[in-house]
Amino acid sequence: MHLPDPLHRDTVLDTYVDHYAERTHGMSVSAVRALFSVANRPEVVSLAGGMPNIADLPRIELGAAVDRLIRENGTQAMQYGSGQGELVMRERICDVMALEGIRANPDDVVVTCGSSQGLDLVTRLFCDPGDVVLAEAPTYVGAIGTFNSYQAEIHHVAMDDDGLRPDDLRTAIRTLRAAGKKVKFLYTVPNFQNPSGITQSLERRRDLLAVAREEDLLIVEDNPYGLLQLDADEPTPAIRSLDGDNVIYLGSFSKTFAPGFRVGWVLAPHAVRERLLIAQEAATLCPPVFSQFVISQYMTDFDWKGQIVAFRDMYRARRDAMLTGLAEHMPAGTSWTHPRGGFFVWVTLPEGIDAYALLPRAVTAKVAYVPGTAFFTDGLGSRNMRLSFCFPTAERILEGTRRLGEVLHNELEIHKTFGLGVDVPRHIDATGAPAPNIS
Ligand SMILES: Cc1ncc(COP(=O)(O)O)c(C=O)c1O
Repeated sequence: MHLPDPLHRDTVLDTYVDHYAERTHGMSVSAVRALFSVANRPEVVSLAGGMPNIADLPRIELGAAVDRLIRENGTQAMQYGSGQGELVMRERICDVMALEGIRANPDDVVVTCGSSQGLDLVTRLFCDPGDVVLAEAPTYVGAIGTFNSYQAEIHHVAMDDDGLRPDDLRTAIRTLRAAGKKVKFLYTVPNFQNPSGITQSLERRRDLLAVAREEDLLIVEDNPYGLLQLDADEPTPAIRSLDGDNVIYLGSFSKTFAPGFRVGWVLAPHAVRERLLIAQEAATLCPPVFSQFVISQYMTDFDWKGQIVAFRDMYRARRDAMLTGLAEHMPAGTSWTHPRGGFFVWVTLPEGIDAYALLPRAVTAKVAYVPGTAFFTDGLGSRNMRLSFCFPTAERILEGTRRLGEVLHNELEIHKTFGLGVDVPRHIDATGAPAPNIS
């Protein structure tokens, strides 16, 4: 029998191609993945990835605590655990949520393998193929992947400087329902949104909730960045803190502690929690027990709130470096958001410049970003790019924006030379419609 050479697996045609489930047809490999492998080289300033900077965690002390945990409680910490998550972890999770005004009972929390698994389970519970999920324009690329994998249709709702526009939300719900569509939920990232950096104001949260109640629509609030506010002492209250019945809340330790432990959670209305738990047990038996023990220990023995303040100081310096670099190096006609927290800045390029087409040139100039089209399902975003300030140092960010500015200036020069018509710059919002004060 002839076996394919394992080293050349990529070149062998997939003999299972007719056997895959329908739902896999929406799964696609990112067209920019190959470029990103180049972007990860040390000489390239990557403003593309969204990896948190965890170098400042007290790793030596954590190592000692983990060592102790294994020696003193290893038989429990390394054993199967509760499908809902360990009680001690769920109690600590309620402490975290209290910082954003959420009063929750540990019994209504289901621990998940990152909030990614939470979103997967929620989508599994609610979406049949063809059902509609509403999401911001633009929206988190990982959520697009999740919704696609359940063959849900994503319908984008426009944003302005205060986040999702309630009127557009209402119109979308009514129009889609009138067309016979089942609209299952609104997926929203209210704080320092990935990718736009925009935050919903408190008033806007109330307005969105009012629309959701009127239209009998569930809100799925995904909030990994809420405690990383950079310009205020207190975070904006979570949508879930304003309404316990219409909101499913997704939380995560990935950005406030470390993503490698893969611990997130879902806080759901009681009836939903019951089904969620069954789905969780079917998917994984139980969320990672060892990780939950480590995080619970960390929250008991260490100053976890002080660590979040330290993270905020570090990210603030990087955010400021990015805004300074952009102001210094971007050509006229470019605009960008000014995030008050989180990891991301959303850039809108002068008319006629395509961020996707420009990426190979940027990588050649040793700077990388994510083209805006990745965050839409309807082809918008060609004039946008997402820049992240979380991982490179402030110096590298300044250098990255300098390189990016040079690439853009050169591109504009080429456009001018060949008469490709660069229009008078407009401020546009994420949907491509004119928007006020976005930069
Ligand atoms: C909006 C949003 N939701 C969820 C996640 C994933 O979080 P987790 O690591 O908890 O799965 C991310 C990570 O980048 C994110 O930006």
